[in-house]
Amino acid sequence: MPALDSQIAVVTGAARGVGEAISHRLASLGAQVLLVARDAERLNQVRNGILQNHGQATVLPCDLTDAAAILRLAEQVASDYKRCDILVNNAAIGGTGQPLYEVRLDDWDQLMDTNLRAPYLMIRSFAPMMIAARSGHIVNISSLAGHNPLPNNAAYAASKWGLNGLTYSVAQELREYNIRVSVIAPGSINTHFEGGHTGKDPAKMLQPDDVASVVATLVTQAPQSFISEVLLRPTQKP
Ligand SMILES: NC(=O)c1ccc[n+]([C@@H]2O[C@H](COP(=O)([O-])OP(=O)(O)OC[C@H]3O[C@@H](n4cnc5c(N)ncnc54)[C@H](OP(=O)(O)O)[C@@H]3O)[C@@H](O)[C@H]2O)c1
Repeated sequence: MPALDSQIAVVTGAARGVGEAISHRLASLGAQVLLVARDAERLNQVRNGILQNHGQATVLPCDLTDAAAILRLAEQVASDYKRCDILVNNAAIGGTGQPLYEVRLDDWDQLMDTNLRAPYLMIRSFAPMMIAARSGHIVNISSLAGHNPLPNNAAYAASKWGLNGLTYSVAQELREYNIRVSVIAPGSINTHFEGGHTGKDPAKMLQPDDVASVVATLVTQAPQSFISEVLLRPTQKP
């Protein structure tokens, strides 16, 4: 039987890049994957790819900066599936590539709402289903920028440092319910992530599948084993 047979996995930012790769991987392990992002057309393409590989996926478009939309999303999942076994908070946007004193308030808010407030709102909406089941995995996709200074992208770094702190704390809060809350901090990944990879060699970067492999490892651990954090670096500096 596949490792994640009959499990429900919610993946944010599933429309492309890392989220698409994670969705494919979880589906290949037998999970029914609920694909979340804003672009319904792209999500449908991802879903079709998963179906072609004999996996199961459902498209649930949602703007994660909209708190009411996240509540509706969770209500729909609770009503349709009655459970959420895996939540991957992957969606994020990059910074504007400016020194902090030039960053516009709207850009700061959009970034924090996507990268930090949305994982909070998703956990607030989905953790109760996991608590009721006394099991679950929450995987937050952070960045090595959450461990290092990132000049000209301080807001992005701050969002990921914040996401790390949120993860470590929530992991303690939910541990007693057998819910494992983990964070993955990758270096540069070969995607079309906003903010770009100017001057970097794509062949040396991590590939989206590398992150998907780590997610698969995290969510297939034996019940007594909890990988709480993974720092994932390209072998050679891109
Ligand atoms: N690429 C890198 O070098 C790198 C390095 C370290 C960490 N990371 C992290 O890895 C994760 C994935 O990055 P990626 O490179 O795959 O990025 P990406 O290719 O730009 O994909 C981002 C995803 O997030 C979704 N998204 C953005 N804003 C959203 C919103 N308001 N509501 C719902 N969905 C939204 C996008 O879909 P829609 O536009 O359709 O909404 C898309 O599916 C992020 O957390 C990022 O910080 C990336």
